[in-house]
Amino acid sequence: MEFSSSTIVFTSLSLLSFIFIFRRFKSNRLNLPPGPPGYPIVGNLFQVAGSGKPFFQYVRELLPIYGPILTLKMGTRTMIILSQADLVHEALIEKGQVFATRPAENPTRGVFSCNKFTVNAAVYGPVWRSLRRNMVQNALSASKLRTFKDVRMTAMDKLVERLKMEAEMNNGVVLVLKNARFAVFCILLAMCFGVEMGEETIEKIDEMMKRVLITLDPRLDDYLPILRPFFAKQRRKAMEVREQQIAMLVPWIERRRKAIRNLGSDPTAAEFSYLDTLFDLTVEGRKDPPTNAEIVTLCSEFLNGGTDTTATAIEWAIARFIENPNIQSRLYDEIKSVAGEKKVDEKDVEKMPYLNAVVKELLRRHPPTYFSLTHSVIEPAKLAGYDIPTGTNVEIYLPGIGEDPKLWNNPNMFDPDRFLSGGESADMTGVTGVKMIPFGVGRRICPGLSMATVHVSLMIARMVQEFEWRSSPENTKVDFGEKLEFTVVMKTSLRATIKTRV
Ligand code: HEM
Repeated sequence: MEFSSSTIVFTSLSLLSFIFIFRRFKSNRLNLPPGPPGYPIVGNLFQVAGSGKPFFQYVRELLPIYGPILTLKMGTRTMIILSQADLVHEALIEKGQVFATRPAENPTRGVFSCNKFTVNAAVYGPVWRSLRRNMVQNALSASKLRTFKDVRMTAMDKLVERLKMEAEMNNGVVLVLKNARFAVFCILLAMCFGVEMGEETIEKIDEMMKRVLITLDPRLDDYLPILRPFFAKQRRKAMEVREQQIAMLVPWIERRRKAIRNLGSDPTAAEFSYLDTLFDLTVEGRKDPPTNAEIVTLCSEFLNGGTDTTATAIEWAIARFIENPNIQSRLYDEIKSVAGEKKVDEKDVEKMPYLNAVVKELLRRHPPTYFSLTHSVIEPAKLAGYDIPTGTNVEIYLPGIGEDPKLWNNPNMFDPDRFLSGGESADMTGVTGVKMIPFGVGRRICPGLSMATVHVSLMIARMVQEFEWRSSPENTKVDFGEKLEFTVVMKTSLRATIKTRV
């Protein structure tokens, strides 16, 4: 049967009006947090989309008006945003179990996540528990992390070499984010697949991963599902990208499977990889181990979770060093005093209190993602006296906490010294209280926290040991504008002039 588009629109709008009236009736009885008035059916959707501002900026401007907990109606989705430590503590610690789930996926994300078969997207329950336990205990434990020490050192050597070559060809100028991203991606690929890959393959996989992220960008029909018939082309395109992703990664999965079945058959095979933990993984409530498509999804999560986040932190770090040559030279002095003439390594990094303070200040002032992943409640809940219905998207605006003047002196100032000599303190795990949570907090806290901290610290230490970083063009001021690109990166991608230290 064929429908004309006017029939679809008319039927859609009638249905939508019915749903709206029904929901309105229901939500009138709910005590939701305050928020800007919206329009029938679409709520605040077009105000947000039409503002021309990145979402974090739109929210930042609403906070002084509506307070630290606010509601946005995004079409059929209700979004509740928290931006204050005590609210986050109540939700993710005191009522941690209730707020530990994720909301329903849109259909595109459903395809890429194999119906929520990932640590980050799984609803709070047995699948999530199995996948998360496997990632944390079998892949990211301290002893497993140690087995990749050489991978990290090789990636650091390659990073230095690439920076030197780029500077040579470019009058001393290098792009920071791109190079940092490539280095961390190499590390994660090696950890994930455990087989050697050439630079060309790495670049191809990286490009494909970026395509996936772009495909997963929210679309209008995610908020107004009734408009789905108008997005058939985008859906088809998304399916094509998913097929490309599977076609590109399955051969590497099979290669590793063969290598560990016939030990010694592949001389490039590493002694361990994340893949090894997935082949025969027992998932609570399921008979069979993950399929190849599910393994592709789990590997992509591993790569995506740690690449842009880590590289973004490095870009902001270098920008801060250029702005504060004093911080850069104190860091260099510390590196020299601990590592001497040899290349700085991760053992040295553990003995550097100033570097530690710099990394903490970096993640306080520039959390790579401004929102944690979306939370949702397993049952109707209360928060600060307001109703939180099931199905609501609960978003946590991280700078609201890290830059709260009630928690921090001079919160906008980049000052690593605040963490030294008995000044201010905060643990990033949130165990002793919520003061800065760049990795989230509670049951869904980032499982990559320790590894990411090692990557950020080691990369900063090596980059400062090898080079002096200055602005480009020299003697210009760094533009600290932000833009959203999955993570919050610098609006003008940072170019820096580097000078090899002697
Ligand atoms: C500087 C680097 C990183 C930052 C800032 C970061 C930040 C975050 C944040 C804010 C969350 C959401 C927590 C929540 O839902 O409340 C998260 C979750 C997650 N991260 Fe990271 N992350 C980083 C690196 C990594 C790495 C290296 C990996 C793994 C290879 C990783 C894997 C994950 C996963 C799987 C989740 C979902 C956890 C769950 O839902 O249980 N992340 N991360």
